[in-house]
Amino acid sequence: MSDNLLQRSVTTAVARNLANTTKTSPKMMSITPRWVLSLLPWTRSVSGGLCLLVRILKDGLILGSYRIPRSSRRIIVKSVQSLKAERQLIERGLNLLEKAVERINARQNLVEDFLAWAVRFLQQFADKFHHAKEEDVFFPVLKQRGIPEQGGPLGVMLREHVLGRRYVDQMREASQAQPLDANTFVEAAKQYIPLLRQHIFKENNVLFHMAERVMSEADDADVTSRFSQVEQERGLTGWHESFANDVVGWEQALKGG
Ligand SMILES: [Fe+2]
Repeated sequence: MSDNLLQRSVTTAVARNLANTTKTSPKMMSITPRWVLSLLPWTRSVSGGLCLLVRILKDGLILGSYRIPRSSRRIIVKSVQSLKAERQLIERGLNLLEKAVERINARQNLVEDFLAWAVRFLQQFADKFHHAKEEDVFFPVLKQRGIPEQGGPLGVMLREHVLGRRYVDQMREASQAQPLDANTFVEAAKQYIPLLRQHIFKENNVLFHMAERVMSEADDADVTSRFSQVEQERGLTGWHESFANDVVGWEQALKGG
């Protein structure tokens, strides 16, 4: 073979192997979330065609991996888009909560009403409105379509919901204490904020990609209409818009120092 025909770079398979073997455990989780690389879906060739291989991690350890068929068709899932929009508002709420924690730490003039509102936002919008729709409508459909709960991504998401509720409860108790139990509030918020940010990242970048591959258009229409039904039956109609207005107001109020 002449020199100019020699392969001068590694193949995709070799590059993937190198990438897998050179990863280390996360050193600075808040700055370099390297665990994310291991969670991202990898496309591999198997006897039945292409599939996605997804690894489920906890504390950097691989809990398991599984394959889901990769459909050549990928639909735009409206229900996924609506959950994403809710998540964007939750992320803005987390940014506000982070600002409040900085103010408490710096002993600056904290808007005390904000803490009560933040707890209400997390309990009512993040949990009762958003997580409940995931748990009662969206996740069960994904489970029916073959995404596993036990040892799979749905189990991880559900566990993180439970853990998040525990931190929000601690924040609620601390914010209602007389006087305010600032230390407990800050400690719980410091656990909750990264937990939920990572949770949202995993849902947006792993779980939702799976959903787009396994859900049919009929599933999507069904989930979308059941979301509206849940909002009506549980008296949640208009909550998204109302909390979005609140967030805009607090973003103004907490602007600057
Ligand atoms: Fe979730």
